[in-house]
Amino acid sequence: MLETHYLVIGSGIAGLTFSVKIAETFPDRNVVIITKDSEDESNTKYAQGGMAVVLNKEEDSFKKHIEDTLIAGDGLCKQEVVKLVVKEGPKRLKELIEWGANFDDDGSGNLDLGKEGGHSEYRIVHHKDLTGAEIERTLIKRVHQLPNITLLPHHFALDLVTNHHVKAENTNELTCYGAYVFNQKTGEIFTIKANATLLASGGIGCVYGHTTNPVIATGDGIAMAYRAKARIKDMEFVQFHPTALYQEKGESAFLISEAVRGFGAYLRNGKGYRFMPDYDERAELASRDIVSQSIDAELKKSGDNHVYLDCTHLDVEGFKKHFPTIYNKCLSLHINIEKDWIPVVPASHYLCGGIKVNKKGKTTINNLFACGECSRTGLHGANRLASNSLLEALVYAHNIYKHHTKKAYPTHQIKIPAWNDEGTVIPEEHVLIKHNLKSLQALMRNYVGIVRSNKRLKRAIKHLDVIYNEVEDLYRESKITPSLCELRNMVNVAHLIITQSLERKENKGGYFNKDNVKK
Ligand code: FAD
Ligand code: SIN
Repeated sequence: MLETHYLVIGSGIAGLTFSVKIAETFPDRNVVIITKDSEDESNTKYAQGGMAVVLNKEEDSFKKHIEDTLIAGDGLCKQEVVKLVVKEGPKRLKELIEWGANFDDDGSGNLDLGKEGGHSEYRIVHHKDLTGAEIERTLIKRVHQLPNITLLPHHFALDLVTNHHVKAENTNELTCYGAYVFNQKTGEIFTIKANATLLASGGIGCVYGHTTNPVIATGDGIAMAYRAKARIKDMEFVQFHPTALYQEKGESAFLISEAVRGFGAYLRNGKGYRFMPDYDERAELASRDIVSQSIDAELKKSGDNHVYLDCTHLDVEGFKKHFPTIYNKCLSLHINIEKDWIPVVPASHYLCGGIKVNKKGKTTINNLFACGECSRTGLHGANRLASNSLLEALVYAHNIYKHHTKKAYPTHQIKIPAWNDEGTVIPEEHVLIKHNLKSLQALMRNYVGIVRSNKRLKRAIKHLDVIYNEVEDLYRESKITPSLCELRNMVNVAHLIITQSLERKENKGGYFNKDNVKK
């Protein structure tokens, strides 16, 4: 067993920012960060467009950014949270720059500001089209400089330890005491006991298979919190990014940043027609729910597999400077953006809901906090405004840190039983895991996608039940493997998305059910 003041699950922007802040302020407190892949693997690492921050006060203002966020969220954002996050933006960005993050400048000493869908002004700070990689690099470097942080890569959190597991004196209130962790290098399962635990475990894109997210995005933190009986909210609001690169094979989709549309690219259907002005006066720069739903409608009309992003009229040198990764990726597939249109299709990208937290990042379980994409703060409402996610993670990591500067969390005087895997055997048929995963992803794509209906959702829940029972049987009988745990977590997440979709009777933002009343 390992004991620590803080256990942080996840090494993306949320987990790393919190850890750095706590470790810098309290050299006598220990932070253990566990992460299931290599130390920097995360959604954060792949963020392209950048971070929305109001810097140019002549043209932009907090008021405008707040309004844009509220409009995108379609009436379901928490206003006080939106105000708080937007106003904190410049301070949190400054800190990141002080830690060593580089953002592009505009050649006259100011940061270069990009524009994306739903934004009324230029306010996206970025590092070429590799903003997330730059932020991740900076934070990992800072983590390694702080002796009171232990970063454990290839350590998989299996489940939270709560009063379900321990015999604590006060068992009335749900309390978290740490987590059971699987060391993927040794196969050992051990307990990390923590005074406070932070879930910073990211998103759920893989539940759909076709996603812009890397393979780590399996909703583990949300599933663990759900099993521990934390409140989970707004799961029906899965955001589909309009422009993932279309490739005939492969499920993980390379993203063509929204900033490319901000740079002036057009969307065209198979006939070459620029369709977005027919759907919204902001055309390609409408918010992402509208653009994805419009593309979906075009594809249903034409029967095509994809639409196109046309960049042929753009300044190619400027494009290469801003989007070198996208330019080279396209070229590697023989798409020369100077003369070829890029085939694109929507893909699951971001979860607006998650583990419900208050402004201090507290979940409904004592000593358990959540931050970043796994959390639901109320900022995004029914649809996240582009580039508000990195911002939210930074601001909430700070809020949680602030809370811990005011309140100390003592060591728990309890005995945690070791993980019990008596009677389980090494699974012989890995193919069962693979088949169930494929069925789950197909089910989510076919019945719980951009456009839903009551019939499809009910069918989805019925099919999911079969998968759930098979996976639970496997889980009970088998020695732990990360792929089995991830599958089990994704089944839990799918259940939450489907059931919360069925509960929503009004279409809002990224949620569209054919059988619901119009907004
Ligand atoms: P992540 O960065 O995903 O980190 C989660 C961490 O948890 C990982 O280290 C993972 O390994 C770990 N983990 C998960 N489960 C376990 C487990 N069971 N045990 C141990 N560790 C675990 N947002 C913007 O604001 N601007 C953008 O330009 C932008 N572009 C994007 C482009 C792409 C391609 C993608 C995929 C997302 C983009 N986003 C963008 C969204 C944004 O990147 C993410 O929402 C944000 O980075 C999430 O940060 P996080 O720290 O919450 O989670
Ligand atoms: C993008 O670059 O298009 C992604 C931005 C985001 O998800 O906020």
